[in-house]
Amino acid sequence: MKILGIETSCDDTAAAVIEANGGFSKPRFSVLSNTSYSQVAIHKKFGGIVPNLASRAHLEKIIPTIKETLRVAKTKPDKIDLIAVTRGPGLMPSLLIGVNTARALAYAWKKPILGVNHIEGHIFSNWLTNKKIEFPALILIVSGGHTELVLMRDYGKYKIIGQTLDDAAGECFDKTARLLGLGFPGGPAIAQLAEQWKSEIRNPKSETNPKYKILNTKYQVKLPRPMINSKDYNFSFSGLKTAVLYLYNDLNTDLNTDLNTDLNTDALAAEIQSAIIDVLAVKTIKAVENFNPKTVMICGGVSANKKLREEMAEKIRPYKIPLFVPDFAYTTDNAAMISAAGYFSAKGGSASGGNYLAKNSWKKIEADANLKL
Ligand code: KG4
Ligand code: ZN
Repeated sequence: MKILGIETSCDDTAAAVIEANGGFSKPRFSVLSNTSYSQVAIHKKFGGIVPNLASRAHLEKIIPTIKETLRVAKTKPDKIDLIAVTRGPGLMPSLLIGVNTARALAYAWKKPILGVNHIEGHIFSNWLTNKKIEFPALILIVSGGHTELVLMRDYGKYKIIGQTLDDAAGECFDKTARLLGLGFPGGPAIAQLAEQWKSEIRNPKSETNPKYKILNTKYQVKLPRPMINSKDYNFSFSGLKTAVLYLYNDLNTDLNTDLNTDLNTDALAAEIQSAIIDVLAVKTIKAVENFNPKTVMICGGVSANKKLREEMAEKIRPYKIPLFVPDFAYTTDNAAMISAAGYFSAKGGSASGGNYLAKNSWKKIEADANLKL
């Protein structure tokens, strides 16, 4: 079946068309188009997402984005079998644009529609790329708003075994990047500087640089790994922000004068990235040992992070369990993953309940900013 997915939960206006077949036993997906309009340029100067501006931009771009995705998929509304739209969780002003557009299209085109849980969308992003996903599966969901360890026993059967008590991992990247003046979104900016730092410390020339020596010996840039040894599977990232602030100020005042601040920032970015990833990886392994999953997956915007992928792969290797990651195109918010979740939902295998395909189903779809898995 052909599914049109629509996603506007945060700051990406996204639409996609996928062809899905095979049911639960042999699901097969082909992404015919995956179109997205990013609002980063709009929110950048504010250092974070401004909900009303997001809503306005969604309103402006939603129809052109849907038209474009149908064009790329070389399809027409009458060929669409189902509309799947993100109905939560997310920012209410943003969600409303996608949900109401999808409802109007379902009504006008006389198509069935169902509401998708955004987090479930991230989970199913893995199905777009990977085959042979076996249950029980352990999933680390790491996005801008969520950090959760979920045990998935079957389609639609989730148990949250741990989650963040305060900031999400992506939020931590974003907030610390803001402290360092790196702009928004913070994750890719920090990852890039961390990569630079890796090449700086590998460069023998930098070892003769006196400033570098000071940094490396006197000021070992070291951040805490919050809750890494706690007995549960929960996380806490808000303390890292404060630790980063103090360290950053220390480095810049104590070492003073003409110290190469770029070098500080690179070192600090590398350590922020390591601190976040260490905690995520250690907690995931602890859950692997306790729950014996057949598959481990990561998903969400932060799963685009290369070091996270490498460290998880390395730590999971001894357990001989496959680690699945989505294609980079499906890590940050996109509508292809919403279409995939819509497919399973239509088959009755989703947390949000599948039975939305009745006549006039458009009347039943409502946005819910706090929708739970
Ligand atoms: O899943 P997503 O696109 O949106 C939400 O559902 O929240 O995730 C966005 C988050 C942001 O916090 C962003 O900084 C982070 O994902 N992110 C990254 C990387 N790319 C995006 N974090 C670390 N490394 C990256 N390469
Ligand atoms: Zn997301």
